[in-house]
Amino acid sequence: MEASIDFKIELDRTDKRWHYESVVISSEKEERKMDLTFGDVQETALIPLAIKASETARANARIVDLKAKEIIDALGVDVSKYDPFLSHEGVVARTILYKNELKRLIEKYPDALCINLGCGFDDKFSQVDNGRITWFDVDLPDQIEKRRKVYSDRDRCTMLDGSALDGEWTETLPKHDLSIVVMEGVLEYFSKEQVKTCLNMLCDSFEHGYLLAELHSPFLEKNGSHHDAVKHTNATFGWGTKSGLEYLELEPRMRLISETSYNEEMKKYSIRGKIFAIVGKNINNRLAVFEW
Ligand SMILES: C[S@@+](CC[C@H](N)C(=O)[O-])C[C@H]1O[C@@H](n2cnc3c(N)ncnc32)[C@H](O)[C@@H]1O
Repeated sequence: MEASIDFKIELDRTDKRWHYESVVISSEKEERKMDLTFGDVQETALIPLAIKASETARANARIVDLKAKEIIDALGVDVSKYDPFLSHEGVVARTILYKNELKRLIEKYPDALCINLGCGFDDKFSQVDNGRITWFDVDLPDQIEKRRKVYSDRDRCTMLDGSALDGEWTETLPKHDLSIVVMEGVLEYFSKEQVKTCLNMLCDSFEHGYLLAELHSPFLEKNGSHHDAVKHTNATFGWGTKSGLEYLELEPRMRLISETSYNEEMKKYSIRGKIFAIVGKNINNRLAVFEW
């Protein structure tokens, strides 16, 4: 049973990070307390959460994420600093691109094992579930602990502690012929060495699979401190690439299937999005699909 959420928060913003005293989540059955002090990269999960919630509340919303809205409404605090124009449009674009790509793959492999690696507070399972896939939401233990306060495990959708840099957790997964790994907003924070560790781990752990990866540019790597939303956190960007082909040098078992700039989606919706697609042609993030 889903818990009803009653966030009782004492907010202390003495520095750039969120400091909630506690959040009380009650249901008829239980009361759970959550400490919402985030790690540096973990805090970035609030950015897509805030954006998905605010887009859901708009008239003619391009994406609808009722769970994100429920969580943000329950928090009852101002998260507007996580929701500036370019990041908003980027998260809307990537949510649409990821959903389309995932649906396409799930249509082809309806019984696939799907893993949302670095899931944060994302509810992608609800968007793409076909009634048959087996889904795992995986993140670092402290993040999964927070996620458990606002999500419960569902039929075929299970939360799991695990790191993208260590494959131990994969040994507990059921064996499947085909795995689809979603990494949205995660690899951008890794060094080149960490990206290699992650790609090698995926190929070692899953015999045949697809990786949906968000890639960012060398420009963003160098200028991350000016990013309109991430600058409000203590996270820093890692290794940026001009092309997904650079990943293949780190993991030759992978093949690059497609690579799509978020500009392709962003330019459909506003003049500012169109202009950014021209002036920021090579600096926007991309969705790259790899197969092995
Ligand atoms: C920007 S958030 C993205 C969250 C989610 N994918 C989304 O799009 O809403 C980055 C996430 O990566 C997770 N993360 C960072 N390092 C990780 C690691 N080594 N293994 C797994 N997850 C990690 C963080 O805890 C955080 O939840």
